[in-house]
Amino acid sequence: MSTKSELYADVRKQILAVVAGETSETARYATAACLLRETFGDRYFWTGFYVVDPAKGDELVVGPYQGTMGCLRIPFGKGVCGAAAATGETQLVEDVHAFPGHIACDSRSNSEIVVPVPGRDGKLAAVLDVDSTEFGAFDTEDQAGLEAICGALLTVD
Ligand code: SME
Repeated sequence: MSTKSELYADVRKQILAVVAGETSETARYATAACLLRETFGDRYFWTGFYVVDPAKGDELVVGPYQGTMGCLRIPFGKGVCGAAAATGETQLVEDVHAFPGHIACDSRSNSEIVVPVPGRDGKLAAVLDVDSTEFGAFDTEDQAGLEAICGALLTVD
């Protein structure tokens, strides 16, 4: 039985091997959402990306995901995803109901982690949002594992 950090290291290798050389960012996001959900199963209730809308600059629009219906757009600064986009920092939230401005796309979600995804220019391209039906489902090991994946997702050749 692998530890959580071993699972993250393995899925990171798989994702980066599949997306290397791929020119479509959508294909890269879709691959990561799929393989993360395959690896962590039901622990990841909603797994996917909100991408910076180039037409607006300060708004996220839903990208590839696995899970129940997500809301389509999130302004920078709103909810957990918007906070990650506005600050450029990972948001680890044990109880989403206590988070100011949390957007309840699905009322079954109780905790979440949102990790920024840098583009090739080093600027924010998207955020990865993972939600759980459990409270306090994510810890600093999840944060380290997901940051390692998101940091390389769009830049690996
Ligand atoms: N929970 C997020 C909204 C997106 S979804 O849950 C899919 C937030 O507050 O940013």
